[in-house]
Amino acid sequence: MIYFDQAATSFQKPPQVLEVVQEAMLHASANPGRGGHMLARKASAIVADVREKAAKAFGCSDPRQALYFHNATAALNQAIKGIEWQAGNHVIATAMEHNSIRRPLEYLRKTKDIEVTYIDAMKEDSCGSVMKSITPQTKLIAMTHASNVTGDMVPIREIAGIAKAQQIPVLIDASQTAGHIAIDMKTDEINMLVFPGHKGLMGPQGTGMLLVEGDIALKPILHGGTGAFSENVAQPEQWPERFESGTLNVPAIAGLGAAIEVYMSRKHENVPRETILINQLIKGLEQINGIRCYGPGVGEDRLPIIAFNIEGANSQEIAMILDSSYNICVRAGLHCSPLIHDSLGTLDQGIVRASLSMYNTETEIDQFLHAMTEIAAAYRV
Ligand SMILES: Cc1ncc(COP(=O)(O)O)c(C=O)c1O
Repeated sequence: MIYFDQAATSFQKPPQVLEVVQEAMLHASANPGRGGHMLARKASAIVADVREKAAKAFGCSDPRQALYFHNATAALNQAIKGIEWQAGNHVIATAMEHNSIRRPLEYLRKTKDIEVTYIDAMKEDSCGSVMKSITPQTKLIAMTHASNVTGDMVPIREIAGIAKAQQIPVLIDASQTAGHIAIDMKTDEINMLVFPGHKGLMGPQGTGMLLVEGDIALKPILHGGTGAFSENVAQPEQWPERFESGTLNVPAIAGLGAAIEVYMSRKHENVPRETILINQLIKGLEQINGIRCYGPGVGEDRLPIIAFNIEGANSQEIAMILDSSYNICVRAGLHCSPLIHDSLGTLDQGIVRASLSMYNTETEIDQFLHAMTEIAAAYRV
């Protein structure tokens, strides 16, 4: 089996991740923050340790502002809905957004009467468009760091510079970049950063974080038991408890910690292995008659993702053939990001996406290219 759907969830995990998850399940499966006994203390120590690691890895000054969620979507919902919105407030996002940003924004448009501008970061000069779109009512810039469909990057550092000059907070959805591309909240001037543990970081599912840099007024969207401050009827004011109601997923958090360590050890690689592999894959695909690739070309800044289609073929059909006849897992369709398909003209056809991690191999790429050559030839007759 060949797994080229790493952008949805990484399949192969570093051995350190597997080890610490098992270790936590066997020896620290108590409730963190809910008891004073030794196992609860052990679970609490894991939670605190990984919080510090995450803050350090992504340049967040205060580990108490590194908040756990069960995926990136939950963390994005907290960041977006946690702001005190007034009717008429305005948000700038891009046409590359995943529904995990777009739907909360559209929900707020309906319920709070906010306005949203989506700039077409693929076709327009992103910085110029952001600058033109800012109004006195702009209260947030919420953007993906890169497209989960095509792998195109958004110039977040430049956009954050523009936002800072206007004192507008910036929320970055690093769901596709965390683990592949170095991010530092201070250098990149990011006020809120969201990432999942289970994609590029290669940690377990059930993990996601919202990191907040500096003083951002956020209200919790979930209320309930926090272990501490039980005497208060109101949600505690203290971070992180204010935002972390309910029992945390300690084994998965332990795995996230190991995944972050792996990321730290790879952070300064000149060209990550998955980038070398994706360039090999793109070069091969571009030579196959009838295949159209989307997104940046070989050697340009990009994620280890390639989006492509066979002219005239539905993307779901191609993914099904790859799965059933070649044992190759890819994703097809709209990838929860309909706006970018509007831009690319692929709303009906969808797009086939192959996404890689450092665990994929050159041999797998050759096998994939062989399969695609046969499939494309079959569509030509
Ligand atoms: C850009 C982007 N944002 C958000 C998400 C949601 O991530 P999760 O499934 O961890 O909630 C994804 C998942 O594919 C994504 O690609």
